[in-house]
This record gives sequence, C-alpha cells and structure tokens, in this order.
Amino acid sequence: KQYTQEIEQFAPSSAADVEAFRLKFLVSKGIVKSLFEEFKTVSTEEKRVLGKVLNEFKQLAEDKFQGAQAEFQQASNGLERKEGDLTLPGEGMELGSRHPLSLVRKEIVDIFKKLGFVVSEGPEIEDDWHNFSALNFPPEHPARDMQDTFFIKKQDGNDIALRTHTSSVQVRMMEMGKPPFRAIMPGRVYRNEAISARAHCFFHQVEGLYVDENVSFADLKQTLFHFVQELYGEGTKVRFRPSYFPFTEPSAEMDISCTICKGAGCNLCKGSGWVEILGCGMVDPNVLENCNIDSKKYSGFAFGMGIERVTNLKYEIKDLRLFSENDTRFLSQFETEI
Ligand code: PHE
Repeated sequence: KQYTQEIEQFAPSSAADVEAFRLKFLVSKGIVKSLFEEFKTVSTEEKRVLGKVLNEFKQLAEDKFQGAQAEFQQASNGLERKEGDLTLPGEGMELGSRHPLSLVRKEIVDIFKKLGFVVSEGPEIEDDWHNFSALNFPPEHPARDMQDTFFIKKQDGNDIALRTHTSSVQVRMMEMGKPPFRAIMPGRVYRNEAISARAHCFFHQVEGLYVDENVSFADLKQTLFHFVQELYGEGTKVRFRPSYFPFTEPSAEMDISCTICKGAGCNLCKGSGWVEILGCGMVDPNVLENCNIDSKKYSGFAFGMGIERVTNLKYEIKDLRLFSENDTRFLSQFETEI
C-alpha cells in the first residue's frame, strides 16, 4: 500500500529520476519482483485476494515507468532537458535598438525632407577629382592637408582615396543633372586622425546643397536657422563666423547657443554660450563651372555637419569612441527611441 502511494505520486523531473525508479521497482532484485517472491509463501486463501492487488500494482509500476520514460526520451536523444520550475516566466529575448547616430541622421534627414530636399548618396571610395579638384582644391594646395586623407592608390593625377567629406556627392549630383538641385548627402567619411575622445578615423556627415536661380546667403541663413529650431527647439540662437573652404565663397561656420547650459557656462561651450555645429557658404562659381553649370545664371549654398557632433550636443555624449564600440550599456539607453 505504501508503495502504491509512492508510485502514484512519482513525478520525475529528470531522466535520472526515471532511472532511479526503474532500479527501485522493476529490476530483478526490485520491489515488484520481491513482492512476487513473498506472494509464493502466503496461503491459498490470501493468494486469491493478494494476487489481484499485486498484479494491479505491477501494472501501475510499469505504466508509470513507461509514461515517464517517454517524457524524458528527449534527454536520451542528447537534448538535455533543463531541470527547473516550468512555471517560471521565460528568459526575455534581447532586442536590438537603433544606433543613436541612425536616430539623429533620420531626424536631420526628416527636417530637410519637409523643406523639399531629397536624399542623395555616393561612393565612399572616391577619386581626387570628386573629393578635391572639382571642389576647387588646386593641386598641391595646402587646403588638401586640412583633411587628413587616407589614400588608396596613386593614379596619374587622379588618386583614389576614402572620401573625406560627402561634398563629393554634390559634385557627382551636379555633373549628372541640371539645376535646380536641392539635396542632402548623409554618409560615412574618413580622415587619418589618431583615435581619441574627440577625433576618430571615420565619422558621419550630412551635407546639403541648394542650387537654383537667385539663391542667396539669406536663403542659407533662413534654412539653417529653421533647421536648428526643429532639431534643438524653438529659441535656439545662431551666429555665423567668417571661415574658409575652397568650395564656398563666402564661407562661414555656424554656432548655436549652447544646448547644454543654455548660456550659463559649461565645459562644452567653455563658458562662451556658443558651440560650433556646421560649416557652410555660397557655392564657389568655380565649382559650378567644374560641374558644367552656368555660374552667371545659377547660384547656390552648401553646408556640412558631422552627425556625431550633432548627436553629442543632443545627448551630452563626451566620448566619440562610444559610437563604434558596440557596448550595449551605451546603446541600450536609446532603446525607447524608435
Ligand atoms: N565639406 C566640409 C567639411 O567636410 C563641410 C562643408 C560643406 C563646408 C559645405 C561648407 C559647405 O569640412
């Protein structure tokens, strides 16, 4: 009777339990066999009653074993079944999330799309003409050193290199089409710099180009002003400082009022209340002519910004290397922003 109860309550949680059950009850020196041995010694009277009980008991033990064995067959097939509480909730699947640079690129692109800019892309491996010469960098001009270039191959007068800016895409676009052009060029660019918190050998840019009749510096200012209101919020101030790029004349760098301290003084703006965000200017007529565009009829503006920089200002990220280390402690902080 005691055994019947034990068998009925037998609930194995592993293949080892099933085997222990077999060894206890079903082998030739097991309990079932030994009870049958005992059975031989009792009186005929008792045999009639006990015989039925014993046979039922044997059946029960065998059924239980077969049921349990089937359940754990997987284990003997080599698929180890994990012991544990099957009612516990499962382990969650880790989902990936968008990279902060992708999020910010999308934000930038969306703002310009609403203004009628289309997205234009080009190759990361460029020739000297598209990366430099067409953009009014004279040969041997020191301005080429401003952008520490990774050269790939010398090629009589038209070396192959990794593009140092996406202005090369502007050239390709103008060469291939007719004005008006209104496009932005997001993409990865490369510069031969030592990797540190503030510099990397590759980063991402969004450049923009608008060429049509009568495009003026006022258009440039208003477009970029609108852009930062959308990206950093209404009331963000801008200021333009004269600068130099071979492909624009006049050229400027645009600062915005510091997004972190709002002018109260912080590390980022060094207390000045201003941070640089992009370079811009009116497309140099030489560039238009290099791309077979009549510079008497058309004018245009261009600008270029680093997505890393824009992202740093938005999320107060202080080390550029975080963007390319694939550390999920960093990346998962952007999970909700889909
Ligand atoms: N191409 C420039 C750079 O990478 C940025 C820029 C683009 C400046 C267009 C002015 C106009 O530094």
